[in-house]
Amino acid sequence: MIISNFIVFEGIDGAGTTTQLNILKDKLKCKPAWFTFEPTTRETGVFLRKVLKGDIVLHPDTTARLFAADRCEHLYGKNGIMEHIQKGELVFCDRYIFSNIAYQSSECDNSLPEELNKSFPLPQIVFYFDLPADISINRITVRGVTEIYEKKDFLEKTRLNYIGIMKKYEALTQVVYINAEKSIESIAEKIWSVIENLPMIKK
Ligand code: TMP
Repeated sequence: MIISNFIVFEGIDGAGTTTQLNILKDKLKCKPAWFTFEPTTRETGVFLRKVLKGDIVLHPDTTARLFAADRCEHLYGKNGIMEHIQKGELVFCDRYIFSNIAYQSSECDNSLPEELNKSFPLPQIVFYFDLPADISINRITVRGVTEIYEKKDFLEKTRLNYIGIMKKYEALTQVVYINAEKSIESIAEKIWSVIENLPMIKK
């Protein structure tokens, strides 16, 4: 199932999804749009942030299941994605099932993340930001905070997973490829050329 008006941004760490969502948020100030992200700010998401920082060490399968649980509440829980969609809003999400499949498949048997996410609805559009891992690492280093997945080999593996996943999902929903090495302005223009044509934005 595809959720209309649900749009997801994906890519390895440092790919620039959050920067672009902030630009879009500003452009859509006067439109009924809700911006959200995963892991969430709910209890499950707060716990996951501790895992990402390395403060809590879990078996990779447990981590995969927790990301999926956080997503389940994000979708169906109070003030979640479905509630906003039902209110007639355009919902933008920084990371979704594709992060779970790409990242957790790098550290656990890849049938588990796919299995955990197969019943979740798909977004209408996925913007996939493609970036080589060495550039990602340079950007992350400048930012200064490092998390457990922010290692070159892991991110290179995750990038390859993403490329495979996007090819597969192209048959199921709209995938827009973004060259994340390009300038912030040119990426913003490319994204806007897709968003401005959505019926909800045009009217
Ligand atoms: P971010 O807040 O910078 O997007 O970082 C979130 C991190 O969590 C990033 O390294 C990707 C990771 N992640 C997963 O590994 N699996 C998931 O399902 C999600 C949503 C995020």
